[in-house]
Amino acid sequence: MKKLVILTGAGMSAESGVKTFRDSDGLWQNHRFEEVASPVAWQRDPELVLEFYNQRRKQLFEVGPNAGHLALVRLEEKYDVHIVTQNVDDLHERAGSSNVLHLHGELKKVRSTLDPSMIYTLDHWELKLGDTCEKGSQLRPHIVWFGEAVDMIGPAVEVVAEAEICMVIGTSMVVYPAAGLINYVKDKIPKYYVDPKAFHVQGIRNLEVIKEKAGIALPELVDKLLKQ
Ligand code: APR
Repeated sequence: MKKLVILTGAGMSAESGVKTFRDSDGLWQNHRFEEVASPVAWQRDPELVLEFYNQRRKQLFEVGPNAGHLALVRLEEKYDVHIVTQNVDDLHERAGSSNVLHLHGELKKVRSTLDPSMIYTLDHWELKLGDTCEKGSQLRPHIVWFGEAVDMIGPAVEVVAEAEICMVIGTSMVVYPAAGLINYVKDKIPKYYVDPKAFHVQGIRNLEVIKEKAGIALPELVDKLLKQ
C-alpha cells in the first residue's frame, strides 16, 4: 500500500464547531497565548491556564468528527495512512483514523509536573489545582506550550519523508516546526493543500491548492484518490 501522509491543523476541526486559533473569533483573538499557553503563564497563574484548557476540553466532550474527518478514514481502504496533526482534539481518532501522531499534545491527557512520563487520560473535562499524580505533584495539560520542545517532531519528519502522497489540511502554516514538515516531502510526490486560505507554499513542487473547506473538499478528493 502506498504511504499517504496527512498534515492537519485547526481548520480540520472547524466544521465540528471547534475554534481555530487565527481566524476571526479564533482562540488567539480572545486570549493572549502568553497568558494561557506557556510555561511562564503556568508559573504566573496556573488556575487561568487550567481554566483555558478545561473550557476547551469541556467543549470537546460536546462535539464530534465532521465529514472531513470521516472522509479521511475511507483512505485507509487503499492506503497506508499516517495523520500528523497539530490539533490536540481526538476527533481523528473518534472518526476512526487508526494512525494519528499529535505534535502539540492531547487535550484529554494530563501529566505529572514532576515526571513528564507519567501521563493520564481524563474521562471528565475538569482538571483542578490540587489534582496530583501518584507522586503527589500537580497535574498539568499534556500540551506543548509556546517555548516548549516539540518532542514528536523527529518521528513526524521520518513519517513525512516517506510519503508517497501528501495532504495538508486546515493550517495557516505559520507555527514551526510543524509548518516546516511539508519541506521534507520529496519534490516529485503529489501534494494537496485543502484550506479556504490555501496558498502556493514557496519552493514546494507538485502542490495542488484547493481553496475550500475540509468538509466540502475532502469527500470529493478522497473519492478521486480511491479511484487512482
Ligand atoms: N476547512 C479547512 N480549513 C479551514 C476551515 C475549514 N472549514 N476553517 C478554517 N480553516 C483554516 C484557516 O483558513 C486557517 O488557514 O484553518 C487554518 C487555521 O489556522 P490556525 O488557526 O493558525 O491554526 P493552525 O494552523 O492549526 O495553528 C497551528 O498554532 O497556536 C498554535 O498550537 C497551536 O496547533 C496550533 C498552531
